[in-house]
Amino acid sequence: MFGAKGEVLDFVRSVTSLPKEDRPAFGKHANAIKQEVEQALATRREAFAQAELQRELAATDFDPTEPGPRPARGALHPITIVQNELVDLFTSMGFVWEDGPEIESEYYNFDALNIPGDHPARESQDTFWLSDGNLLRTHTSPVQVRTMQRLAKNGFQPPLKVIVPGRCFRCETVDKSHEHTFYQMEGLVVDRDVSVANLIHTMKTCLRVILERDVQVRLRPGFFPFVEPGFELDVNCPFCSGKGCSVCKQSGWIEILPCGMVHPNVLRQGGIDAEQYTGFAFGMGLQRVVMLRYGIDDIRQFMGGDLRFASQFPEVPR
Ligand code: PHE
Repeated sequence: MFGAKGEVLDFVRSVTSLPKEDRPAFGKHANAIKQEVEQALATRREAFAQAELQRELAATDFDPTEPGPRPARGALHPITIVQNELVDLFTSMGFVWEDGPEIESEYYNFDALNIPGDHPARESQDTFWLSDGNLLRTHTSPVQVRTMQRLAKNGFQPPLKVIVPGRCFRCETVDKSHEHTFYQMEGLVVDRDVSVANLIHTMKTCLRVILERDVQVRLRPGFFPFVEPGFELDVNCPFCSGKGCSVCKQSGWIEILPCGMVHPNVLRQGGIDAEQYTGFAFGMGLQRVVMLRYGIDDIRQFMGGDLRFASQFPEVPR
């Protein structure tokens, strides 16, 4: 109707056959008619399409009001969840998050920590050596001396409070409680008059928050060349409340973190005056804490890549 040969167009064009003085009035009317017809047609088309759609919808069981498929949401790994909580807790106590390299030098991993080449303590850390003489760090402790040196180089003296969450590696035979790749969180405090009492208090506060209950701790002597005195800190067993069960091997206690007072040699390596300052350090095995918190009995789950395991840990809103 509107095409080059359409009736409406013919009508509009017929303006040329009129005397000049009649043309404007005719043109105005003709255009108004054209617009009216176009409008009416559009309305009909719209109504027709709607009716058509309704008919189609009625013929299927498609429900346009139903919400669409939701994109699957990922979840944080349980180690990340607990690490985040620990970082929040320690930063709220004034600690600063430090990082260090996973490929480490022999000096920072061992020598700077008072573990010389011929020291038997090296044997208990089954190290992955690289062909260039470096190694995969066996603990997060190398970051102790790295941090102290960096601060000393920039003219800073203690107080110093840092935590170092990070991945570590040992050439272990993997079983229920040993992994070649694991996560630690190192802590280091250096200041005047830092004592074992400060260490115990900090550890108790940390365990209370992470295990979500009141805890008792005990210290046993533990040997690490970079602390003196060195301790193994135990927590009362959360599964039997200290009565004795298979998890705590009937002892009522669970060994949870090695710690101690920073050895003066380590302070000296870090450029800190060991006559004026003392400090404490701890090395928390994150998997161990996560296992206690969620009751997980096999450390291999963490690196196993099984989504059924990894997606079970809802993040608690913080
Ligand atoms: N780095 C030690 C380890 O991995 C743990 C430790 C850290 C001990 C700090 C004492 C002080 O075995």
